[in-house]
Amino acid sequence: MIYIQAILTLAVIGTGLTILLLVLAYFFARYGTCKVKVNDREPFEVEGGGKLLDALYDNKIFIPSACGGQGTCGFCKTRVLSGGGPLLPTELPYLTEEEQQCGTRLACQVKIRNDIEIQVKAEFLNVKQMVATVSEATMKTGDIREIHFKLQPGETIQFQPGQYVQILVPSKKETVFRAYSIASVPADQDNIELLVRLIPKGQGSTYLHSIQPGDEVTFTGPYGEFILDQDPEAELVCVGGGVGMAPMRSLIRHIAQANPQKKTWLFFGARTTDQLLYMEEFTKLQQELPNFKICYALSEPEKCPDWKGETGFIHLAVEKLLEKNDNPKRQAFLCGPPQMLEAARNTLTQKGFQDCNIFADEF
Ligand SMILES: Cc1cc2nc3c(=O)[nH]c(=O)nc-3n(C[C@H](O)[C@H](O)[C@H](O)COP(=O)(O)OP(=O)(O)OC[C@H]3O[C@@H](n4cnc5c(N)ncnc54)[C@H](O)[C@@H]3O)c2cc1C
Ligand code: FES
Repeated sequence: MIYIQAILTLAVIGTGLTILLLVLAYFFARYGTCKVKVNDREPFEVEGGGKLLDALYDNKIFIPSACGGQGTCGFCKTRVLSGGGPLLPTELPYLTEEEQQCGTRLACQVKIRNDIEIQVKAEFLNVKQMVATVSEATMKTGDIREIHFKLQPGETIQFQPGQYVQILVPSKKETVFRAYSIASVPADQDNIELLVRLIPKGQGSTYLHSIQPGDEVTFTGPYGEFILDQDPEAELVCVGGGVGMAPMRSLIRHIAQANPQKKTWLFFGARTTDQLLYMEEFTKLQQELPNFKICYALSEPEKCPDWKGETGFIHLAVEKLLEKNDNPKRQAFLCGPPQMLEAARNTLTQKGFQDCNIFADEF
């Protein structure tokens, strides 16, 4: 009994001391000035104690951070060569064994406590921060808004269809970014267009649904890894729903302008007709382009008695209409909610797609 009491007393004292040390470290720890070396650039200096992601941002290195530094997207992966401290439990779900072994970390979780040396992808060093003005905004469905932005005079953005930007969301407490796919075409270099679904109480989407023509917005980009095969014979199959239309709209309109012979499919799923996006516009494009085909499908057709198109989940329409084909260059771009993407991925694999040619953006 006396041993148990002693153990409990020690445990209580130990826990108390740990909490005290953490509180003291929080309020009083000073790490002084630390040097941050990025790739082969001259190191820059920061006051220790802050997040690596914020230090990079303050020094105009804009790495992807789609969740705005909350540690929930895994986009801010950065290779830390020295000085990163121990790996944190919050990072583990996003890092493979191999990544952990070669020092990959989440920049939003690493705190700078001493000099640190890191490596980021070379292309991120070219990412710019820009300001754009809202030129037009229209509601396309009950909760999806199409917003056009004009870049400042002389500014241009070079991007690939399928890429995204990160919008800086005004916040008094911290730097908050949210990712939004570019819906416009790369040829239009001084404008960008976004499609934004309003998430109730969502910080970024509420902001983007509140801005008005004439308002200025700050963003960084472009980001994203999808590379469209330019070969007209390398078929592109887009499958998505809801606001997943944004990057598919960029891809299809780009193909219509730059590669109109390219074999392309658009499969778009919605519950009811009021959620269908750009159906008229793409129906017209289908009549103009010889190798472009569309399929819109409703999963709740009983609510829309006038609907004459496909019914059921969109992957079933893919299963029904898409030919099986083993062309190793055939690409798929999927964008929508997770369950839709998983079902579409399985169907496409059965249709002969190689896993490495199926690109999925989940949101
Ligand atoms: C690469 C990429 C591209 C994207 N492109 C687009 C795009 O083109 N258009 C677009 O509208 N969005 C897009 N998103 C999603 C976008 O980045 C935001 O996550 C989304 O707008 C919600 O942010 P928020 O700040 O409004 O909500 P938050 O403040 O982050 O979240 C508020 C609450 O809503 C919940 N929540 C967050 N997202 C959802 C959701 N999708 N459904 C239901 N609940 C949710 C959260 O868990 C939280 O409880 C993209 C995301 C990524 C990673
Ligand atoms: S995990 Fe999203 S920014 Fe780091």
